[in-house]
Amino acid sequence: MAADYIVKDIALAGFGRKELTIAETEMPGLMACREEFGASQPLKGARIVGSLHMTIQTGVLIETLVALGADVRWASCNIFSTQDHAAAAIAESGVPVFAIKGQSLEEHWDYLDRSFQFGEGANMILDDGGDATLYVLFGARMEAGEDVIAVPQSEEEAVIKAQILKRMAQSPGWFTRTRDAIKGVSEETTTGVHRLYDLHKKGQLPFPAINVNDSVTKSKFDNKYGCKESLVDGIRRATDTMMAGKVAVVCGYGDVGKGSAASLQGAGARVKVTEVDPICALQAAMDGFEVVTLEDAVETADIFITTTGNRDIIRIEHMHRMKDMAIVGNIGHFDNEIQVANLKNHKWTNIKDQVDMIEMPSGARIILLSQGRLLNLGNATGHPSFVMSASFTNQTLAQIELWTKGEEYQPGVYILPKALDEKVARLHLKKIGVKLTELSPAQAEYIGVTVEGPFKPEHYRY
Ligand code: NAI
Repeated sequence: MAADYIVKDIALAGFGRKELTIAETEMPGLMACREEFGASQPLKGARIVGSLHMTIQTGVLIETLVALGADVRWASCNIFSTQDHAAAAIAESGVPVFAIKGQSLEEHWDYLDRSFQFGEGANMILDDGGDATLYVLFGARMEAGEDVIAVPQSEEEAVIKAQILKRMAQSPGWFTRTRDAIKGVSEETTTGVHRLYDLHKKGQLPFPAINVNDSVTKSKFDNKYGCKESLVDGIRRATDTMMAGKVAVVCGYGDVGKGSAASLQGAGARVKVTEVDPICALQAAMDGFEVVTLEDAVETADIFITTTGNRDIIRIEHMHRMKDMAIVGNIGHFDNEIQVANLKNHKWTNIKDQVDMIEMPSGARIILLSQGRLLNLGNATGHPSFVMSASFTNQTLAQIELWTKGEEYQPGVYILPKALDEKVARLHLKKIGVKLTELSPAQAEYIGVTVEGPFKPEHYRY
């Protein structure tokens, strides 16, 4: 029988295993989950489809889910984000992984499909960006006769439609059966969460979903401190450019934008910010950044980074006005923040994997990172393990909650309770030598909380 995995080179497993072992020492939250729940096997019977960047950190998450009793199959949620040694090590451990750094779009959607093919069928989804959820829900609607992608708006939409039609021809009724078997989905990122709330609003979300992104210990840490470390890492590995003194524009000043601006500022760049939200614009200004429009900054800046989760931020007319050798990249979830499709008829020179030089009509060239896909994972190795431990501890708790108590939830989008959020934070304190102060009973009573927490009301924003 052919091996039930697709990785670049299984011989990379030894290297991957060494890095997994190091990552475990930096992921105290996940290791604590193994200790707390390993014996009781709360995920026994769960058949989890994972669609999330197949990195070393994700490897530690996968092995935690397995240690808690789950059956797992995995695909990456981005064509450039896989770490091939991580994929090899996980495949060698017996978990079916379908992920290669630099896979084509066709392979990408085929690999996602393969990650659903448990003998008895999947019953849980762990998603990052919502593609696994979309695949099942679009497929089920197409089986019901609705042409959900009647006119594909992009190359990727055409690929998705072709993949759905292929599965429909191979296994009639498969999407509907799979949809009905899914007990719940836990979603990692802002963009995927937007999609879930939108589905729910339209009455198209048939199962409960846990919004992991909006655990405080996820978005206020991974999105912010994670990008603070991994954005400049990606730019440096791609270009080796001197950052100090350069003018950088960060589009968007949400959590990812805050981390990205801090990352560039920490490297000595002179950072400008663009925003549409007056609150975030005011925050950026009071953090010391000049808030401008892209139109005003486009001719003078050296580095452009999109962080908005929105479409068409850097448009073709902007790129045509940039100075020679401007660096252009995106750290938001999808590649539609930069109008890369409109560059296709320009002259491209590939410099190395995930780095292209593109000539504008004026003769000026731009350096485009990861073809507009998230550059911290495309050009570098994503966020460090420690911050991903907090994110993935939330993922693990969300999977346990949905698998063991899914029936108690109506279809809808939920956030983990604050007590668990505080627990995730608590699990990460010892590793970095943080000593907490304890409230006295009188103090607790005075501010209206209990000595053990939760310490803040739901509306507190951190
Ligand atoms: P957010 O909602 O906190 O921030 C986005 C910001 O962009 C908002 O403040 C919004 O007002 C602003 N914005 C929207 N349209 C704009 C426009 N036309 N011009 C300027 N600003 C605009 O979202 P968050 O959490 O910062 O996530 C942003 C993106 O990054 C999402 O796609 C998310 O999924 C992704 N992400 C990527 C990570 C990575 O490692 N690469 C990690 C975490 C999230």
